[in-house]
Amino acid sequence: MTIAIDGYSSCGKSTLAKALAKELSYVYVDSGAMYRAVTYYFLKHDVAIHSEKEVDLALDKITIDFANIKGKNICFLNNENVENEIRSMRISNNVSEVAAIGKVREKLVKLQRQIARNSSIVMDGRDIGTVVFPNADIKFFVTADKTIRAERRYNELIENGKEVTLREVQQNLEHRDKVDTTRAISPLKKADDAIEIDNTHLNREDQLKLALSYITQFQKHC
Ligand code: CDP
Repeated sequence: MTIAIDGYSSCGKSTLAKALAKELSYVYVDSGAMYRAVTYYFLKHDVAIHSEKEVDLALDKITIDFANIKGKNICFLNNENVENEIRSMRISNNVSEVAAIGKVREKLVKLQRQIARNSSIVMDGRDIGTVVFPNADIKFFVTADKTIRAERRYNELIENGKEVTLREVQQNLEHRDKVDTTRAISPLKKADDAIEIDNTHLNREDQLKLALSYITQFQKHC
């Protein structure tokens, strides 16, 4: 069973994906963390993103894994725990440009499909229902009001000790949404058969209940 969740920046996709994975005992895969980890590596090693040769060489040196540690999904880049680093504004401000590179997407999509080969999964991202798993059993497209999204992400970053202003967060979300929806390869868009969930006025529990009700309906028809 594959559940694909896509949506705009900071719309609550990963909150829903994690909750569904927990409820259904599926594996949760955060595809955004993979793009963030590659961005972290590129920045750390001064990889010139417009040089195909440099990008290729760098990608060959990258491994990305996930582990569940004390109930938290942790991203490892070349065996280093980078979960905290990849959530910084520096990464958020550069990730969409890195995610627009064809070779980067090729490598990560391959990895995403490999992870899904042997387990039931819930994966969230931008192109999961459209490109990575066009035959996913259930696809959700999550949306929320722009102001609410920025406030939620700002609060999350502050709770995690990041120094950031609401304005910076707003600008970053706008920038990422623009680059992610207009890039040439696998732009963010709702799959034709995705179920749209607008969570502007839903709390986490209501969002989970709603998604579960769609999944139950789907299972009844199988
Ligand atoms: O901040 P948020 O949780 O919304 O984003 P994320 O899921 O961590 O993804 C970070 C960035 O990675 C996005 O803005 C996209 O540029 C890129 N991404 C992508 O291109 N394709 C995916 N399947 C997932 C993320």
